[in-house]
Amino acid sequence: MSKLDPLRQAVAVSPDNVPLLLLLAQSCLNEWSLDEARSIFERVLRLDSARPEAKAGIARVLHLAGKTSEAVVRAEALLAEHPDFAPAHLLLARLHSGEGNRTAAQSNYDQALALDPTLRDAGLEKELTGGAPKPAPEEPEKVTAQGWTPEGDEEDKPAVDASDIERPKLNFADLGGMESVKDEIRMKIIHPLKNPQLFKAYGKKIGGGVLLYGPPGCGKTLLSRATAGEIQANFLSIGIHQILDLYLGNSEKNLHALFELARTHAPSVLFFDEVDALAADRNDLKRSAGRTLINQFLAEMDGNVGNNDGLLILGATNAPWHLDPAFRRPGRFDRILFVPPPDEPARRAIIEVMAKEKPMDRLDAAAVAKKTRDFSGADLKAVFDIAIERSLARAMTENRVIPLNTDDLLKSAKDVKPSTKAWFESAKNYAIYSNQSGFYDDVLEFLGIKK
Ligand SMILES: Nc1ncnc2c1ncn2[C@@H]1O[C@H](COP(=O)(O)OP(=O)(O)OP(=O)(O)O)[C@@H](O)[C@H]1O
Ligand SMILES: [Mg+2]
Repeated sequence: MSKLDPLRQAVAVSPDNVPLLLLLAQSCLNEWSLDEARSIFERVLRLDSARPEAKAGIARVLHLAGKTSEAVVRAEALLAEHPDFAPAHLLLARLHSGEGNRTAAQSNYDQALALDPTLRDAGLEKELTGGAPKPAPEEPEKVTAQGWTPEGDEEDKPAVDASDIERPKLNFADLGGMESVKDEIRMKIIHPLKNPQLFKAYGKKIGGGVLLYGPPGCGKTLLSRATAGEIQANFLSIGIHQILDLYLGNSEKNLHALFELARTHAPSVLFFDEVDALAADRNDLKRSAGRTLINQFLAEMDGNVGNNDGLLILGATNAPWHLDPAFRRPGRFDRILFVPPPDEPARRAIIEVMAKEKPMDRLDAAAVAKKTRDFSGADLKAVFDIAIERSLARAMTENRVIPLNTDDLLKSAKDVKPSTKAWFESAKNYAIYSNQSGFYDDVLEFLGIKK
């Protein structure tokens, strides 16, 4: 039994108690239960969207998970909102220090202490006054730089090599619903790759870059992998932190090697998750070499430095509005696909998939689908997780397996607030007020707003 169980039980009794949720999330962080911590912080934000502790908590989760860049972007956004929130200064100080950026780290640390002297951190002070910068917590072997020096160690192990290439078995049949997105992918990606002559004759594009955007947890990552599976292509998935590690280990050269790896294994799908964080970096972190890296990225996409035949570049984001417009120019991410939340039949299919490996009693997936409007795939997973936790708690007292049933799922669905609504609130503003060249037409259509 984990030390956290009493807290978890307390939360099960008062699921909307924000201070209690924060306490549990913080304790999860201390035990490195990162997924659980994150989902609780997100829950707090659904209950009270202004809670800076929860925003800082999510940034901390990202930091611990090695997603430094996204953590920095979030911590900076939080500080822009709450300039006097000392823990955010401390977090940024740690992030900067981890990146070897001591000046910035010191400045944030000083501000944190000025606001709250109890935040003193002896380990951080040691780093700031001499010790080598700490590597990112989860993937220390990949972080090799001594700071943000553009010159790297020649002996760096490449951050990505052939062992990262996947051959996904997943294909469209494994994804519940999403019919219209699948059709668009067939038309925009799969048919052109299979009938290149025909498409060339009509002056249509083959390969190149496609950007998937939409609310979190609705299957962008899954869909990218399944696309590679559909065309039996190789699949290389690159997270934003890996790109920055490429930068840390130096270099434009390594990024080039990554594209070359995909080119030599063509047909291949090169998937960049969270591309917005990469683009935001170019604007937000004033690092000159960062810009060089981005320019290299754009040159690779343009095919200026290698032959991109048979190379499909997919990017995913839930903040397309943060994406530097340079990424959307012709030949880059010039085709854009909106991945909406699952509709009712899709939810039903997803629920059936999720129920497969669980001890289930009676399942009326349609009934659950009906009661989970606006839920993302990830929200549906949360519904299962909660139901399972509860059934486990009972199973432990009764000492037998208690299978889940429809009512359990319906009950836990009440405790999960759909996460896609908040996304549409932001998206709506961008779609109405900055819908350049119809970029957000699909969002408007989804919301039933006339163009
Ligand atoms: N169509 C679907 N069929 C089955 N499961 C789904 C589907 N869509 C989403 N899921 C479930 O939701 C989870 C989240 O999906 P995924 O990671 O692809 O979302 P995402 O859009 O990439 O989210 P994010 O923007 O947060 O990266 C998946 O791991 C899967 O469990
Ligand atoms: Mg994803």
